Amino acid sequence: MKLLVTGGAGYIGSVVSAQLLEAGHEVVVLDDLSTGHADAVPDGARLVRGTLRDTAAEVLGGAGFDAVLHFAAKSLVGESVEKPGLYWDKNLGESLALLDAMRVADVPRIVFSSTAATYGEPESTPILETDPTRPTNPYGASKLAIDTALAEYARLHGIGGVSLRYFNVAGAQGRQGERHTVETHLIPNVLKAADGGGRPLRIFGTDYPTPDGTCVRDYVHVTDLGNAHLLALDACAPGTHTIYNLGSGSGYSVLEVLEVCREVTGRDIPVETGPRRPGDPAVLVASSDRIRTELGWKPERDMRAMVSDAWTFLRSR
Ligand code: UFG
Repeated sequence: MKLLVTGGAGYIGSVVSAQLLEAGHEVVVLDDLSTGHADAVPDGARLVRGTLRDTAAEVLGGAGFDAVLHFAAKSLVGESVEKPGLYWDKNLGESLALLDAMRVADVPRIVFSSTAATYGEPESTPILETDPTRPTNPYGASKLAIDTALAEYARLHGIGGVSLRYFNVAGAQGRQGERHTVETHLIPNVLKAADGGGRPLRIFGTDYPTPDGTCVRDYVHVTDLGNAHLLALDACAPGTHTIYNLGSGSGYSVLEVLEVCREVTGRDIPVETGPRRPGDPAVLVASSDRIRTELGWKPERDMRAMVSDAWTFLRSR
């Protein structure tokens, strides 16, 4: 297939671009490089630098694309609370420009990177796709609005769409890994603390109603997560929009992640405890029964593999 990957210079987009090339697809990456890196785009993919608003119509027009995989987004929860307008503009506004460009160019399928943040504070876990969506920040709200727009474009314009709701993504795949300028994620921050550099890991809150008092999250290796995109691509059916959670179904607390990082790195990792980070739910664990049953997806890499691959990636840079 001929595929457009938006955000293909970012962490997950670059991993999936590599998987798509490996599977024999033709890949064009569209990325404004605001947070991505040109050298993360795998060899064999063509990089077009630009925003969706300015370039999607031009890139897609008359070019015979079979599908879009849409990763490009702003994705920092804290930043979204400080700058909600930026998140509505970049996430929803630019996605609407993309959807309309797809409609005009007759591109029939889209796989979209949605998020667990669309659910907000869960009433119960594991979270099902049918659970209420009550996002607690503009990041989650803007992603939920895109899911809603996708459903309408499917219903009214016949596009086939799949939204994949990521829980916590970790690990690396060869030379593609996490390289955020502002790093907020737990595992890269733990590994940076393990690598030296003087900054201990700060644990945000030890008084949560969980077995050890720290937050519990559902981690998936980026390679396993990427595999779900290839399955979703084949499953996009005209006129339908389907939502799938992507999680392992089991949770790790911050302290448990820390312990695996100590084992894998063999290092003593300095930590300090701090107050809760605003907006962090105590437990976020996905039910991924739907994608397992309907698409046959199964995560194959455990926490040890995630930490070990992320550590190899960090040490290689
Ligand atoms: N944490 C720390 N110290 C750090 C970083 C994180 O203690 O330096 C804790 C957090 O408080 C949280 C857990 O580690 O309890 C995981 O935090 P991450 O930032 O790695 O991930 P989140 O669960 O906050 O965020 C993820 C995605 C978001 C998405 C969210 C859905 O990265 O994009 O899940 O709620 F919005």
